[in-house]
Amino acid sequence: MTSTTTTPTASTAHQHTATVLFAQGLRYEHRADPYPYYEQLLRQPVVRMDDGTWLAGGHREISLLLRDPRISADRLPPPQQRPIRKSLLVEDPPRHDQLRHLVTQQFVPRIMGMRDHIEALVTGLLDAHTSDRPGQLDVVADLAYPLPVTVICELLGVPREDEALFGSLARRLTRGLDPIDTQTEDEIRELQQTRNELQQYLEGLIARHDTAPGDDLLAGLMHSHGPEGPIDPIDLRVTLGLLLIAGHETTVNLIANGTLALLRHPDALARLRTDPDLATPLVEEVLRYDPPVQMSGRSTLADIDLAGTTIPKGSRIRLLLAAGNRDPRRFADPDRFVADRTDNAHLGFGGGIHYCIGATLARAEAQIALTALARRLESPRLVADPPPYRENAILRGPESLPVSFTRLIADDGGAG
Ligand code: HEM
Repeated sequence: MTSTTTTPTASTAHQHTATVLFAQGLRYEHRADPYPYYEQLLRQPVVRMDDGTWLAGGHREISLLLRDPRISADRLPPPQQRPIRKSLLVEDPPRHDQLRHLVTQQFVPRIMGMRDHIEALVTGLLDAHTSDRPGQLDVVADLAYPLPVTVICELLGVPREDEALFGSLARRLTRGLDPIDTQTEDEIRELQQTRNELQQYLEGLIARHDTAPGDDLLAGLMHSHGPEGPIDPIDLRVTLGLLLIAGHETTVNLIANGTLALLRHPDALARLRTDPDLATPLVEEVLRYDPPVQMSGRSTLADIDLAGTTIPKGSRIRLLLAAGNRDPRRFADPDRFVADRTDNAHLGFGGGIHYCIGATLARAEAQIALTALARRLESPRLVADPPPYRENAILRGPESLPVSFTRLIADDGGAG
């Protein structure tokens, strides 16, 4: 027995308190600011919940779990709600490593040297929208969403005319990531239907690529060879779906959450306007302070002793990345947005073998978009604070982010 072991009654009370706090943090009314609930949860870095699942919120504990080979990335729901083939996100070695290798081989060289193109896209998006509606911008619809979507569609070789169809599928599917008890029965039923529609769409896309191959990432994946031979057609479809959804539903929240932080911290906004180098630490701070992916999940392949407790083999664990990012045991002044924070080992992109493949791309898009907003919008103001939020609890961010300003300053090509 360790000194931190508590009596059954005390631990049941802790368990119940944690369950209630977690549920409160997930409630839609608290979407704009779930952090006070996470802060209270952090009093226990690892805790069992009433439904028998576990919650890890401590920075150290999450970091250890992400790197522990006795932990599986499989956090899928009960068998009847599972897809037939798992993506690399929820796979374990050796299959995870084989698939990840195939993707990174194709992904990494294609995103090198993309900054100029991303800058041109940002300039074009800002110019287009302000001529329609001078003085008003919805940062989500006009910039934060179309930028990463254009980039991922171009990279993968997805025709832009498919965007509306795919965008709506992606949106419906990511709602399915949220804890099952926050979804209605209709939503759960609809999820299966949406999965089928996605499968059909992706199969069509692959078939069209077969007859007219390009030199995009999808073509590269179709013809790539790992040590185990070419990628099989189901893995190809599932991997393509994962990349497309990741490209649609994550970076949008990084740009929107970053804009929100800048407009709430005018000193940081003013500095970014004249010091583009601030963009690098600033985007890391957004990933810590208000992360687009709030939590992830794992399961245990063995009993794990951690933080004075034992998580039994076969347990499901939620890793509350957003709580770990504000752990006072790891970060000084964790609830303060410090644009130039230096010691910033945040969990925004996860860690260990599943560390985000798109991190470099997402960082570049957010740095460029936020710098352009700071330089080009004169006297920007939030129209609503807080803005309306999306339903999604895990991939969390504003639904729309209307900003007013007095003038769009002409693009000076980043000089100055
Ligand atoms: C701001 C934007 C993004 C954030 C915050 C983000 C966050 C994350 C996180 C937290 C994980 C780890 C999940 C886990 O361990 O369970 C992850 C994995 C992953 N991300 Fe991202 N992501 C972003 C953008 C992207 C983009 C643009 C792509 C690709 C186009 C991408 C592709 C992936 C893939 C394929 C994985 C799985 C890696 C693996 O399992 O080995 N992400 N991401």
